[in-house]
Amino acid sequence: MLETDGPRGTLASRMAPLWPFVLAAASGILAIDAPHPRSSALRHLTKQLLQKYRKEVRPVHNWTQATTVYLDVLVYAVLDVDAQNQKLKTSVWYREVWDDEFLSWNSSMFDEINEISLPLSAIWAPDIIINEFVDIERSPDLPYVYVNSSGTIKHSKPIQVVSACNLETYAFPFDIQNCSLTFSSILHTVEDVDLAFLRSREDTTHDKKAFLNDSEWELLSVSSTYNILRSSAGDFAQIRFNVVIRRRPLVYVVSLLIPSIFLMLVDLGSFYLPPTCRARVVFKTSVLVGYTVFRVNMSDEVPRSAVSTPLIGVFFTVCMAFLVLSLSKSILLVKFLHDERCSRQEQTLLCLRGDTDAGGPRVDPRTQSAGVTEFPVWQEHQAQSETLKEVWSQLRSISSYFQTRDQADQQEAGWLALLERFDRLLFQSYLVVLGLYTVTLCSLWVSWSGL
Ligand SMILES: *[C@@H]1O[C@H](CO)[C@@H](O)[C@H](O)[C@H]1NC(C)=O
Ligand SMILES: *[C@@H]1O[C@H](CO)[C@@H](O)[C@H](O)[C@H]1NC(C)=O
Ligand SMILES: *[C@@H]1O[C@H](CO)[C@@H](O)[C@H](O)[C@H]1NC(C)=O
Ligand SMILES: *[C@@H]1O[C@H](CO)[C@@H](O)[C@H](O)[C@H]1NC(C)=O
Ligand SMILES: *[C@@H]1O[C@H](CO)[C@@H](O)[C@H](O)[C@H]1NC(C)=O
Repeated sequence: MLETDGPRGTLASRMAPLWPFVLAAASGILAIDAPHPRSSALRHLTKQLLQKYRKEVRPVHNWTQATTVYLDVLVYAVLDVDAQNQKLKTSVWYREVWDDEFLSWNSSMFDEINEISLPLSAIWAPDIIINEFVDIERSPDLPYVYVNSSGTIKHSKPIQVVSACNLETYAFPFDIQNCSLTFSSILHTVEDVDLAFLRSREDTTHDKKAFLNDSEWELLSVSSTYNILRSSAGDFAQIRFNVVIRRRPLVYVVSLLIPSIFLMLVDLGSFYLPPTCRARVVFKTSVLVGYTVFRVNMSDEVPRSAVSTPLIGVFFTVCMAFLVLSLSKSILLVKFLHDERCSRQEQTLLCLRGDTDAGGPRVDPRTQSAGVTEFPVWQEHQAQSETLKEVWSQLRSISSYFQTRDQADQQEAGWLALLERFDRLLFQSYLVVLGLYTVTLCSLWVSWSGL
């Protein structure tokens, strides 16, 4: 007895924690058994709809009838505009609606159920893709579609589209991009699957309610066209949405254009220093270094594209070329003046040395001058004639020195005049380039804001 009683006791104690589950299971069975009209009608309807359904078959009774798919696109956000790879990444809400002739029912026979959800995997669905895809479509896996009692199926999903687009960077940062998303069936010709607009085209064009407004890009319009692509494989229906977006330029104006204009103005200011001033080289070098640092910092901001160069990049290069040109001019000037001075000093030395050579190798100028001021009484005649000769040769060398110096001065003046003219020319071209740049920017801005 003890042996049998012991195990029963332990069994009971083991079962004790499980009682709630047992009860719950029992009540669950009771609930399923209990009449639940709506749920049972739903079950009944779903079962009846899908029992004989063949999802491989296009859902029409008469095969000559095309299935019309109604499309709609809502642009939700512009995620990335990659000019280098000519790719546009957008997030769109995509809706498609079509009629399934095999999925209709009389709602009064099914407890007035007007709409039910069915698994997408269980029914026929059109194979519509975006032709411009260059990357895998990313969309959450939404398993259900809505079907109403007349057999209209509504399917909607958000998609992240990475599409190929011809991106124009010429007018950066005042650029407007026009990218198209073309929807078409990949296999079915227009005789089988036709496309149509779900909403009126005007509504689609100006619907910006869903668009995230606070990004770099502003949505201008989403115009749409329907056309039939005729090819050897058959005629395909296509619907193209042209997404037109415009960049907000303010951040680039503040971080790119204004600083570069300031640097150019500073460089322009350096023309007020006299051209012979050596500080100008230092000044221009600092401006050039500053400009280079600025460009390196900003190189990520300017879109790079192999097809077209942004105008702003051309401008930066022209500015740089001007900086380098005026810097090399200043360097040339300084080198030339330096050469001039060196050669003049050399000439002086040469003439002095030539002079001593003429006077005799053993006498140096100091003793010569001493000889001129206090000649001794003995050897008077000889000394006088020698001194006179010496004075004469001195005078000659001095005059020739002044002559060459005059020549050099004239040459220098000529060079200086030339360089000064070049300086003025450079200054004028600076002004012209800056003026052209301003005019171009203003006209770009006007055309940007006109759209
Ligand atoms: C299918 O429809 C076409 C016209 O739309 C009609 O001529 C043809 O008789 C129909 N076929 C059937 C089997 O109903
Ligand atoms: C739907 O069913 C009700 C009742 O069974 C019937 O009276 C009605 O005519 C049916 N409607 C259609 C469109 O078949
Ligand atoms: C089903 O949906 C379509 C499109 O929204 C509509 O035209 C049709 O009237 C709906 N049918 C019923 C029975 O509500
Ligand atoms: C966008 O491009 C399409 C053709 O690719 C053109 O029909 C449409 O007018 C363009 N839209 C704008 C605003 O430029
Ligand atoms: C979006 O931005 C534009 C221009 O910046 C403005 O006119 C418009 O009112 C904004 N819309 C919303 C919903 O914020």
